[in-house]
Amino acid sequence: MSSLAVTLAGVELRGPLVAAAGAAGCGPEILEVVPDGTFGAVTTKSITPEPRDGHPPWRVIELPTGMLNAVGLANPGLDHFMESVAPHLMKSGTVFIGSIAGHSIEDYVSVATAFDSVEGLPLVEANMSCPNTGTGRQFTDDPVAMREAVQAIKSSLAQTPLFVKLPLETASGYPLARAAVEGGADGLTIMNTVPAMAIDVDSRRPRLSNTSGGLSGPAIHQLAVRMVAGVRSAIDGGDTLPIIGLGGVTRWRDAAELILAGASGVGLATALFADPRLARRVGRGLEKWVRAQGVGSLMDLVGAMRSDPQLPD
Ligand SMILES: Cc1cc2nc3c(=O)[nH]c(=O)nc-3n(C[C@H](O)[C@H](O)[C@H](O)COP(=O)(O)O)c2cc1C
Repeated sequence: MSSLAVTLAGVELRGPLVAAAGAAGCGPEILEVVPDGTFGAVTTKSITPEPRDGHPPWRVIELPTGMLNAVGLANPGLDHFMESVAPHLMKSGTVFIGSIAGHSIEDYVSVATAFDSVEGLPLVEANMSCPNTGTGRQFTDDPVAMREAVQAIKSSLAQTPLFVKLPLETASGYPLARAAVEGGADGLTIMNTVPAMAIDVDSRRPRLSNTSGGLSGPAIHQLAVRMVAGVRSAIDGGDTLPIIGLGGVTRWRDAAELILAGASGVGLATALFADPRLARRVGRGLEKWVRAQGVGSLMDLVGAMRSDPQLPD
């Protein structure tokens, strides 16, 4: 077994790198442009019961520190996914994670129920935190609502482990993360984009059609590292909780930081828009790092941050 192999809620992945939701189209597309074995798993675009066109342009803006997007959950809808995408997932030999979204608990439950029967989707991820559609806001503003929604989604899954994708949380004790775990999440995905805005100072207009959007890329990396480490230590059972950490990963060192903070999977989204093959370099860097750390497996480094801070040279 490769030194990079990881297990997420009982599902074995060849490596820790995950193509994150929104960065890989419906899923299989990204495998056409990266060498085999680059990703341990590929997440589908978040799928809703009905097809969605998303927001009008502009919906993605490049920034010096990353990207601002308000795509608005554009996706082909559940029927199209089940007919045209799901039957092909098994053929590639890659682990796919089915991302689900909606406007109500019923929406999430109907997509989760359908995904549960898809052989090529051994993991489901509930996107409870899209910052630019209002979708999920009812859950992320209230831990009680989060727990109830997760409970409902979990009970619609007879066999597939459930990851819950959270927004940036800074409240002490991480009540949303706790609520997701209490609701039955088998793992957490930390984190989604961070609500943000850009204004064109000449026209004095918002640069996104939706006015507000989600910030991603290097600007949010250190926020994600802190949240992964914080959730791991604040939550009962956090030291064994499977976490997919993501936010601003562009180099192997970023991925390694998230692993030391407690993530066993590491997602990439924004970086893949610039160069999907960059994930290959990240994987190679991690392989060398595992060797240099003198451990047999990357799993030995999950949450292995030391508590004594680095001293100045
Ligand atoms: C253009 C774009 C579209 C996205 N679409 C989704 C989505 O459909 N579902 C979801 O859960 N996250 C979505 N995300 C969030 C990413 O999966 C990821 O959580 C976030 O961008 C932080 O990672 P990064 O800094 O590596 O981009 C999207 C991000 C971007 C930039």
